[in-house]
Amino acid sequence: MTDQTASARRPEQTLSRLRCIGCGALSGQATQNFRCPTCGDLLEIVYPGWKSADGIQANLGPAGLKNLWRQRKISTLAVDQSGVWRFREVLPALADWQAMISLREGNAPLYELPGCARSVGMQRLYGKHQGMNPTCSFKDTGMTVAASFARQEGFRWVACASTGNTSASMAAYAARGGMRSLVLIPEGQISWGKLSQALDYGAVTCQLKTDFDGCVQVLNEVVQRMRVYLLNSVNPYRLEGQKTAALELLEQLDWRVPDHVIVPGGNLANSSALGKAFLEMKDLGLIPRLPRISIIQAEGANPLVRTLREAGGKELVRVRAETMATAIRIGNPASWKKAIRVLQATDGTVEQVSEVEMALAKAEIGADGIGCEPASAVTFAGLKKLLKQGFVQTNQIVILILTGHLLKDPEFTLKFHRGDLFSGTADERESGRLSSQQRAPVVLEANADAVIRTVEKFGT
Ligand code: F0G
Repeated sequence: MTDQTASARRPEQTLSRLRCIGCGALSGQATQNFRCPTCGDLLEIVYPGWKSADGIQANLGPAGLKNLWRQRKISTLAVDQSGVWRFREVLPALADWQAMISLREGNAPLYELPGCARSVGMQRLYGKHQGMNPTCSFKDTGMTVAASFARQEGFRWVACASTGNTSASMAAYAARGGMRSLVLIPEGQISWGKLSQALDYGAVTCQLKTDFDGCVQVLNEVVQRMRVYLLNSVNPYRLEGQKTAALELLEQLDWRVPDHVIVPGGNLANSSALGKAFLEMKDLGLIPRLPRISIIQAEGANPLVRTLREAGGKELVRVRAETMATAIRIGNPASWKKAIRVLQATDGTVEQVSEVEMALAKAEIGADGIGCEPASAVTFAGLKKLLKQGFVQTNQIVILILTGHLLKDPEFTLKFHRGDLFSGTADERESGRLSSQQRAPVVLEANADAVIRTVEKFGT
């Protein structure tokens, strides 16, 4: 641990500051609710020292940073084996590296999706699979940073409201860091896979009789009334960790900038984090231009789409969210202003997809041998629309951010293949177009003839 501590702290690492995205006020310390004490808006982390005489730009420069990050891939130190802390020059520095809680997060693969590409007439298409993190969602990349800061500050309890993945991730990192965790989830609205993770990792799990947005409200009050560290994505330290997915992606592409990055939108923190990463990379000279970042929502949980189309992006249009992609069943997203800035800065767009379009896209990603949870599949469903609109060209480099693992929500997948996902819903008729992707299990007598006959039906 001593070696690791010495190696982790580099002279060019500069201290970070918190800046309000509304009034611009700078501070060194966050309040309990991570809101600006002056105007109540969200905070973001900035690094005023990067460009100073002894900052990372002067000390290492773009080539130096790229080399350093690549070299760390063969290091055996825990801080280097983390696919997040490996990029620590662009993260807030822990004063005490002993506080770091890591499960070797990040290091998530970039896969080609040849079947999906063919089906939409593209030469190639990539999925950056953040579901291949330790708790099987992208949340781990942010959680390692924010949970480490909670531990450094001496918190005994951490808490979040969640649609499932944040709670699974938080519970794991709290357990590893010797902290207690409090989870607020909407009763009956999160998948069993995610709930069971929080239970196993030892969280105090409260299922509230409300939706995600209601859970956030209750949590805000809890945080004001007891000493507990808030780990929802209003916590800007989480976004810093989530940024590293973009750095890792560029490294995987040998620093060739993709044309488009397509992200699912829920509480809108991940799209904000990835956008911040690309803007900072350009600022540091690591990349010459920006990819266009587009955000896709489910039609039934589309506050960002409506905010842009109906209110010109000026005021949030809240909705009562309803979608089978429970991860993104969010009607009052906290980070909407940050996300809109990213869309504007990268010249991206928003789109929405139906439940049937999402279910089809999920099965198609699965058929490429990759798989993802329903919320992640809105990216591919959205891409199909962006291609039709001409916003994306078939010869461009497109990255879908797959945010969660297929096994997060097996119930959705089983219902899909059995053909009863949409039974009794308004989408039942439209769901006929899914049959080519449905592969229900076949129940047979226990003999080889029956099995061989079945295989022959599929062609030999
Ligand atoms: N994809 C998955 C699998 C998610 O779990 C989430 C959010 C998102 C996409 C959307 O990301 O909120 O940053 O826009 N899940 C949160 C949770 C809200 O509590 O697990 P976002």
